[in-house]
Amino acid sequence: MNPQTTRARDAYAPRARRVVVGVSGSIAAYKAPSIIRLLRAAGHEVRTVPTAAALRFIGAPALAAVTGAPVQSGVFDDAAAVAHVQMGEWAELVLVAPASADLLARAATGRADDLLTATLLTTTAPVVMAPAMHTQMWNHPATRHNVDTLRRRGVTIIDPDAGPLTGTGHGAGRLPEPEQIVARALDVLEAAHTPAAPAPDALAGRHLVVSAGGTREPLDRYATWQPLLRPTGLCDRDRRGRPRRPRHVGVGACRAGGTGRAARTG
Ligand SMILES: Cc1cc2nc3c(=O)[nH]c(=O)nc-3n(C[C@H](O)[C@H](O)[C@H](O)COP(=O)(O)O)c2cc1C
Repeated sequence: MNPQTTRARDAYAPRARRVVVGVSGSIAAYKAPSIIRLLRAAGHEVRTVPTAAALRFIGAPALAAVTGAPVQSGVFDDAAAVAHVQMGEWAELVLVAPASADLLARAATGRADDLLTATLLTTTAPVVMAPAMHTQMWNHPATRHNVDTLRRRGVTIIDPDAGPLTGTGHGAGRLPEPEQIVARALDVLEAAHTPAAPAPDALAGRHLVVSAGGTREPLDRYATWQPLLRPTGLCDRDRRGRPRRPRHVGVGACRAGGTGRAARTG
């Protein structure tokens, strides 16, 4: 395949991306390992950043094992690596699942009091959050406001499912299944790396010149050239000085006298 075609194909082919998975303190944190596993199975490289509360629901060793890399939670865990900046710069996608009410509030107000919120502040990658909480927390005006703020800033919020909740509760607030979350997150990732199609009227009102390169063609051999050639005295007589009949005037006839040539146009 020619190198240009290969380059164009590779530019649009899905490729392994760097994904930061944030996990916050929800009972649904037990679904995080499945989310991480699905992302890695899709070929992506993952780093996991749990909050301190998340580590009370699921242990760092389990998260490290499914991630295939150590997990960090605080900004002081590895100060030499300046992880609170490095993690956000490394990410090509940040997925927070589950996102607790508290995490949404901290992200919406721009807090940076742990590695996950610092990463959210430093990254320029697309951010996807999958909230999970009790229905009252989800419906509270403070949470609604935080969700609206994050959406306005471009964060993709995956609405929670309705169903049985922790304790005796039932309603909106359940974390959707890992497959749904990963599918949505990968859609966002792909959209971020697919060049946008130009708007239908993007070229409206513009003046364009289209060049297809030079063309080469012989001069018209016959009578159409007579008016141009006659005044110069070229080609209107044969080698012996006898006048030519008009139908013999042209390039073919001139070649005998050494004046035939081709024209270049374009
Ligand atoms: C058993 C239990 C379950 C919890 N489940 C949730 C939950 O699903 N969603 C939520 O927002 N908070 C939940 N919380 C409360 C959070 O863990 C708490 O607000 C914590 O401060 C969140 O911290 P983080 O946002 O830093 O992870 C739960 C707490 C407990 C003890």
